[in-house]
Amino acid sequence: MNVLGIETSCDETGVAVYSTDQGLLDHAVYSQIALHADYGGVVPELASRDHVRKLAPMVRELLADLGLSAQDFGGVAYTAGPGLAGALLVGAAFARSLAWAWQVPAVGVHHMEGHLLAPMLEQDVPQFPFVALLVSGGHTQLVRVAAVGEYELLGESVDDAAGEAFDKTAKLLGLGYPGGPALAALAEQGDPARFSFPRPMTDRPGLDFSFSGLKTFALTTLRQQEAEVPSAEHGQLHADIARAFEDAVVDTLAIKCRRAVEQTGSKALVMAGGVSANRRLRDRVDRLMQDLGGRAYYPRAELCTDNGAMIAYAGWQRLRAGQHEQLEFAIRPRWPMQDLVAGG
Ligand code: KG4
Ligand code: ZN
Repeated sequence: MNVLGIETSCDETGVAVYSTDQGLLDHAVYSQIALHADYGGVVPELASRDHVRKLAPMVRELLADLGLSAQDFGGVAYTAGPGLAGALLVGAAFARSLAWAWQVPAVGVHHMEGHLLAPMLEQDVPQFPFVALLVSGGHTQLVRVAAVGEYELLGESVDDAAGEAFDKTAKLLGLGYPGGPALAALAEQGDPARFSFPRPMTDRPGLDFSFSGLKTFALTTLRQQEAEVPSAEHGQLHADIARAFEDAVVDTLAIKCRRAVEQTGSKALVMAGGVSANRRLRDRVDRLMQDLGGRAYYPRAELCTDNGAMIAYAGWQRLRAGQHEQLEFAIRPRWPMQDLVAGG
């Protein structure tokens, strides 16, 4: 059976078809980055309108490319939250109407569960139980995953998410939106020895994170240094700050991952969400898990950021557990993942 997946929680329109025998058949993502770039961040109303424009043509094109039609589908999965209310409503309304027309069940998926299960779309999949580090624009969480739907929150950010901290620091450095990839690229030219930024909340026990202070530290360093060094050297200064910031975030995440893995005795660490596309973070987590005699798992880079494939897959897990929606529907702009019930 095939499941159509639809993602519209923020600034990416994602569509995908997951086959229960053949895995991911294909997916497409349209990013609204250019639309929001002038505003320095996502404008919710513009995001909703663009999802309205893009979603139906993208689904039509994907199905045409795969040579599939209504009768080939056994379900439609969509992101029901968390995310921007208007953007979620576009995907929810479209998916529910399509499922109704196709006479198949529709299933609302938790966006972070989608990220968390994305590594399952790859060849080599982690075995349950495992520890997951979810690092996106809106969330930084360490979760113990016993099975699909059995999630224990071990720790999370008390303020900014890691991705948000990347985006805000990138903005300080004059980089465009979204800042994470741009900051990571700039950091490549940075000298790791010039500045050392703090590793917040690593000096005390626990698995929570705090990233807002790092952004302030970057700002203070930038102001001080810009006043002192000649403007011809500001380019290098920015790169060195980007490197110090990236190293601090990566190191902080790795320290907490080590604690979580040691605390739970897990042999597998799954990493997902937009920030897990970061190369330095991947390398670091790979080495950490090797040292601990385990392994790190993460999806290919295009499935780390928002996409429909992870929604199709998570939707299938819900459908096979016998879960689907009734005809009325709700979206949940705020939705703690601990509220989910166990899957099959
Ligand atoms: O998961 P995602 O696509 O959307 C949310 O659900 O939030 O994550 C987007 C976040 C943004 O903050 C973006 O700057 C960050 O992921 N990001 C990165 C990288 N690629 C994306 N951060 C650091 N390094 C990257 N290579
Ligand atoms: Zn996401």
